[in-house]
Amino acid sequence: MPELFPDTTSVENGEIHVGGVRLTALADEHGTPLLVLCERTLRARAQAYRAAAPDALVVYGTKAFPNVAVLRTLAAEGLGADVSTLGELRFALAAGVAGERLVVHGNNKDDEELAEAARVGALVVVDSLDEVPRAERADVERTLVRVTLGVEADTHESIRTGHVGSKFGLPPTQALEAIERLRPLGLHVHIGSQLTSAEAARETIDRLASFAAECRDELGWVAQVVDLGGGLAVRTSPDDPAPPPVAEFVRSLLEQVEPAWRASGLPAPRLILEPGRSLVGPAGVTLYRVGLVKRAESVTYAAIDGGMSDNPRPQLYGARYTALLANRADEPPSGTFRIAGKHCESGDVLIDRVELPEPVRGDLLAVPASGAYTLAMASNYNGVPRPAAVLVADGRARLARRRETVDDLLRLET
Ligand SMILES: Cc1ncc(COP(=O)(O)O)c(C=O)c1O
Repeated sequence: MPELFPDTTSVENGEIHVGGVRLTALADEHGTPLLVLCERTLRARAQAYRAAAPDALVVYGTKAFPNVAVLRTLAAEGLGADVSTLGELRFALAAGVAGERLVVHGNNKDDEELAEAARVGALVVVDSLDEVPRAERADVERTLVRVTLGVEADTHESIRTGHVGSKFGLPPTQALEAIERLRPLGLHVHIGSQLTSAEAARETIDRLASFAAECRDELGWVAQVVDLGGGLAVRTSPDDPAPPPVAEFVRSLLEQVEPAWRASGLPAPRLILEPGRSLVGPAGVTLYRVGLVKRAESVTYAAIDGGMSDNPRPQLYGARYTALLANRADEPPSGTFRIAGKHCESGDVLIDRVELPEPVRGDLLAVPASGAYTLAMASNYNGVPRPAAVLVADGRARLARRRETVDDLLRLET
């Protein structure tokens, strides 16, 4: 199986298949760029979380890819959803996720978001002191308080969230004040995304147990629920460090909670986990059509029909990807190529260097491990419509999101 591709990937007569479906057939039918999601990989990742933490509520970090078919698939595996806007909340409801299995986030929730969360009985994660009276006025009944404990996770600064000075959550003194007023169900922490080890998360758990003990001692309040957030990394390039497997990552969190809570003399809390990237990222393969190959001094560009409008992660976080030619996967590489997008910026480079057989116009480029924070962050830069997504399983493909058209975009114009 080619490295970093989903579990069901095979190569037959030089053609890559995922979920028993030939990628060139999918590109011909649905066009490109196209996000192909392997349903079996998605389900296997969800099952791995559930098996590692059978007593916890696992909620999908919807922001990684807000898609109704994905939410429905994960709900069928027993997952709820973590949502951070009204849009994501509506997506989860459309997928049939019950209100009590929804966790509502947001550092700046508006009144409509709080009202909708209250209406469906979701668990609302209070993120600021200002939000306390607003949540009360909205009749939100179930709350957690998000506390920021000053842990610097080893990840890109844009996706680090638990440090001192973070825009997310409340520093401990303010969190105490919020807890005194709200008497919430419990506490929430999320220190960042793309974590390649559990080290910072374990340190956070120790600090959280001390904070929970302080809450008991000062306020006589005991957290019944502890939400540990998400964060496990996904390797998108062979050059990336390998994160621990889901089972190992979750086990190391649980093994930290139990003694930390016991040492603080607190009853074991009910746990919530919020994985996003590690569920949907490895299931996704993005397909692009090569439009031209151009030599520019020492660099040879292969230009594709997408780029930073469907995957801005290289520009935002320096993310690295790899690729194969889906229609010539059995040919040995003939050189190193730079994969350029079609947008009007020199920085619109999806992959800086990748070894491929000499690409030609019409070849199909397949980029694995690209299911998370790609289409989720897609834009219409340069008036480009956003791509479609399909779920594949057992030799069949079903549309998970139709392709946007230029007419869709024109309909918004006045
Ligand atoms: C509060 C919260 N929970 C969960 C997640 C999901 O994180 P990840 O996709 O890294 O698992 C995020 C994303 O940053 C988040 O902000």
